[in-house]
Amino acid sequence: MGNNNYFEAIEGRRSIYAINNEAVVSEERIQEVINHAVKHTPSAFNSQSARVVVLFGDQHKKLWTITTDTLKAIVPAEHFSSTLDKMNAFGAGYGTVLFFEDQAVVEGLQEQFALYADNFPIWSSHSTGMLQHVIWTSLHVEGLGASLQHYNPLIDDSVKTEWNLPASWKLIAQMPFGNIVAPAGEKQFSPLEDRVKFIK
Ligand SMILES: Cc1cc2nc3c(=O)[nH]c(=O)nc-3n(C[C@H](O)[C@H](O)[C@H](O)COP(=O)(O)O)c2cc1C
Repeated sequence: MGNNNYFEAIEGRRSIYAINNEAVVSEERIQEVINHAVKHTPSAFNSQSARVVVLFGDQHKKLWTITTDTLKAIVPAEHFSSTLDKMNAFGAGYGTVLFFEDQAVVEGLQEQFALYADNFPIWSSHSTGMLQHVIWTSLHVEGLGASLQHYNPLIDDSVKTEWNLPASWKLIAQMPFGNIVAPAGEKQFSPLEDRVKFIK
């Protein structure tokens, strides 16, 4: 796609699972790019329903300990070692972005615009997806690797209690990130002709 930085960034973002906590980017810079993403990513009716918590260092490790303990209670013992390997790999990173959607905002819209009531949860879901992509790509541009995880709703209550978060914040996804230890694997692409129609 030529040397347009935006297109390169979209292509360069990948799921990176092998990460460590080497501070190749400062916490301040990560805060800056995440604030920028949250501020500028669109939302339905400009409702700005996204909520984000970024955990660094020991707080990040705590999340993956909570997730490990939660899974240990439900995953059969014979499968747990591969689960544990994954948890340790995420915990080895630099931090985790937690994505939430504030249900108080979504419900407020449903009351205000009854005609679209069924759509607001769907649009909330669309807009968090957009934000996840913007943050994932922004972390990539800064040289960090990240992946997208979904241990909600299993960990929702523990996360809310641990970090004293409002009851209306619904956990949507977790994005562990860090210094890249190993690149992403090969990726298959379906033919674009089957997926896109240009109609002239
Ligand atoms: C909506 C969505 C949900 C995903 N959920 C997970 C997940 O729970 N765990 C995981 O490891 N990867 C998850 N992924 C990552 C995809 O598997 C990955 O993006 C896809 O295989 C393409 O690879 P790439 O990210 O390296 O381009 C998810 C991606 C999307 C867009």
